[in-house]
Amino acid sequence: MKKKITLLPGDGIGPEVLSQARKVLDAVASVYQHQWEYNEGKIGAAAIDATGTALPQQTLELCMESDAILFGAVGHPRYDNDPKAAVRPEQGILGLRKALELYANIRPIQTYAALRHLSPIHLKRKEEVNFIIFRELTAGIYFGDKETTNNGSTAVDTCKYSKNEVERIARMAFEYALGRKRKLTLVDKANVLETSRLWRRTIQELSAQYPEVSVEYMYVDNAAMQIILNPYQFDVILTENMFGDILSDEASVLCGSLGMLPSASLGEHTALFEPIHGSYPQAAGKDIANPIGAILSAALMLEYFGLKEEAGHVRDAVEWSLENRFVTKDIDTINFYFTSTVGDLIADYITGRIPDSVKQENILLRKSTII
Ligand code: IPM
Ligand code: MG
Repeated sequence: MKKKITLLPGDGIGPEVLSQARKVLDAVASVYQHQWEYNEGKIGAAAIDATGTALPQQTLELCMESDAILFGAVGHPRYDNDPKAAVRPEQGILGLRKALELYANIRPIQTYAALRHLSPIHLKRKEEVNFIIFRELTAGIYFGDKETTNNGSTAVDTCKYSKNEVERIARMAFEYALGRKRKLTLVDKANVLETSRLWRRTIQELSAQYPEVSVEYMYVDNAAMQIILNPYQFDVILTENMFGDILSDEASVLCGSLGMLPSASLGEHTALFEPIHGSYPQAAGKDIANPIGAILSAALMLEYFGLKEEAGHVRDAVEWSLENRFVTKDIDTINFYFTSTVGDLIADYITGRIPDSVKQENILLRKSTII
């Protein structure tokens, strides 16, 4: 298979984690005889520095012409404490989502036996948690009209949804639920918000077309609690933009590290794959960030290309690295490996350069020396 992939490393740890994902994709290409043609574009603070805008036209064009986009992270502390900044790194990813109409953001929440001890939440069952969040990504309060008036003393953000915007992602979530445990939970705030009532009505209507899927409605405040109390009850969560942003960070805690979680954004144009973590500026350039969220995002991309076996191989490699504790500092603060080493090991596992029976001692030489 031949595919054009645009890499958007962005800011902070983005470039480091993305190059590990690329290593892994190259390993997959060599084992399964695929060809990836990479392009690289600027986005976020890196793009502002170079061009004055967070999403240069050239980057957008590259994205439009590719088969998929692999994205790192955007954000820089320089802008965080400057509420007056007219240009912000986040405009890069928000603009891209809007321009490509990537309305469905899919965030799988998965725990791993090897990481259970890291989670502040004690899981009551032996089995792993596995559910998926469908977050609407191109409307709602993120993209509604905004204004600041009265000399800066009043501000407005508008949350707006059309039925069509709700329906298109809801359809995708229903279809997805059919291939899983056939349970869909709509998370909203229908006791207060008009937009939530539109979501509820739309899902109620649509559910008639999916009689095999059982639908449940849950207020977002309760959902925030239920994710911690009993995450096993969920299969597919469907929700609007901001609720999905918040709940997915919360859910990542179950798995032990935000650095583990991938996501896929699908819509009208080129699909985009990105870890859910941010640019983590404090770790930038130190080779300590967890590359697994980016690597698993590459696995989602392979699945999107229809390459199920390859995607499975990448996931096996990730599990193998966790089981053997070839992990970064967020997971093991004492015996950790560098970002680039974890990337090498996962890629080597895929190309078969590491025998299945590998003993941890055999790889001790690659271990970090900065403990
Ligand atoms: C995410 C991030 C973004 C968002 C930021 C960087 C704008 O938090 O992808 O979850 O809020 O959508
Ligand atoms: Mg977020």
